[in-house]
Amino acid sequence: MKEDFLKFQAQTTPHPLALEVESAIGSYIKTSDSKNYLDFVAGVSACTLGHSHPAVVNAIKEQAEKYLHVMVYGEYAQAPAVELSKLLAKNLPGSLSKTYLVNSGTEAIEGALKLARRATGKTGIIAARRAYHGNTMGSLSLMDFEERVEPFKPLIGDVSFIEFNSTKDLQNINDHTACVILETIQGGAGFIQPVDDYLLKVKKRCEEVGALLILDEIQPGFGRTGKLFGFENFGLVPDILVMGKGMGGGLPIGAFTASEEVMDLLMDNPKMGHITTFGGNPLIASAALATLKELLGTSLIAETLQKEKLFRKHLQHPLIQEVRGRGLMLAIILKSAEIADQLVLRAKDEQLILFWLLFEKRAVRITPPLTISSEEILKGCGIIVDILEELNSNIEAVN
Ligand SMILES: Cc1ncc(COP(=O)(O)O)c(C=O)c1O
Repeated sequence: MKEDFLKFQAQTTPHPLALEVESAIGSYIKTSDSKNYLDFVAGVSACTLGHSHPAVVNAIKEQAEKYLHVMVYGEYAQAPAVELSKLLAKNLPGSLSKTYLVNSGTEAIEGALKLARRATGKTGIIAARRAYHGNTMGSLSLMDFEERVEPFKPLIGDVSFIEFNSTKDLQNINDHTACVILETIQGGAGFIQPVDDYLLKVKKRCEEVGALLILDEIQPGFGRTGKLFGFENFGLVPDILVMGKGMGGGLPIGAFTASEEVMDLLMDNPKMGHITTFGGNPLIASAALATLKELLGTSLIAETLQKEKLFRKHLQHPLIQEVRGRGLMLAIILKSAEIADQLVLRAKDEQLILFWLLFEKRAVRITPPLTISSEEILKGCGIIVDILEELNSNIEAVN
């Protein structure tokens, strides 16, 4: 299968990890050679409840027996999408009451940007340096990383950048600004959290100039940071909330949520201001609804903070400079990019799945399923520390 994977399926890197997946359950992925890999990545923060959680699988099965796709988004009332949107509204601040369901994170970002321009009648978009919001043309235009965007230019216009956590840069938000878009916790940049009421200050500045604040919660959202959404840790409410990844419990989904007043603008001038065929798909929405119900009906979200403590206690080694992030959105910052590289590759030999971050090359992500057990945490941390010990001995032998 690996040969066909490399030959017929488009690749994103010359050296993919290329595990041949046979099945996956809980915190483990089983490969075709009958090895069981402990998963500290969860499909890059997507498998919130672990692999093949029974609540998600049953919801999919039940829905599959009723109906699949019946109509483009927004025309028919379909229970999974309606209930999902309603339950989200119930668990969000009052101003975030209406949700538009789409098919992926980047598509939700596109919708949010369009909505902000439509709602303000302005065009300026401000994003943060080293942000990641996705890979379609609009999301890509929010990426301030020349090497990655240059070959695809021209991008969309009127985008400028500020430094995340810089109060000084807030002056750049002005009357021309339609929206400021930020990740609540910067992911690809190295799991960088907002400091000193930064997000509150951004929100205040947006209010002063009549701009909307869009928070991208595609990675921190759905419980990863000890709250249902990351912004709840920082004392503010965005004008538009964007979600995806962990929302679907392993199925592809994205969404953006705003007030009814703002969201309803997409119905008019132009009519059908944002449309999608498969957004709100009943099978996907039923999986997302089951995921949300499971998160709200258990202590999994609160437990992320206990699990964070366990990770921090057991991820101690001279080659680890820092463990960044919050809850189960953690990144080990190593002494060098080479060590990070070797750790990920060696961990694969030891049947532990780790992965890199996009921009911070010294980082290794720890974003396991929220359902991970204490024993699994200890087992994985033990493997990491042993590998680092081995790498350290090699470094010392060379010096
Ligand atoms: C913060 C953030 N925004 C947007 C995206 C894009 O989501 P998707 O890959 O579903 O398009 C990602 C995906 O990694 C992300 O982490």
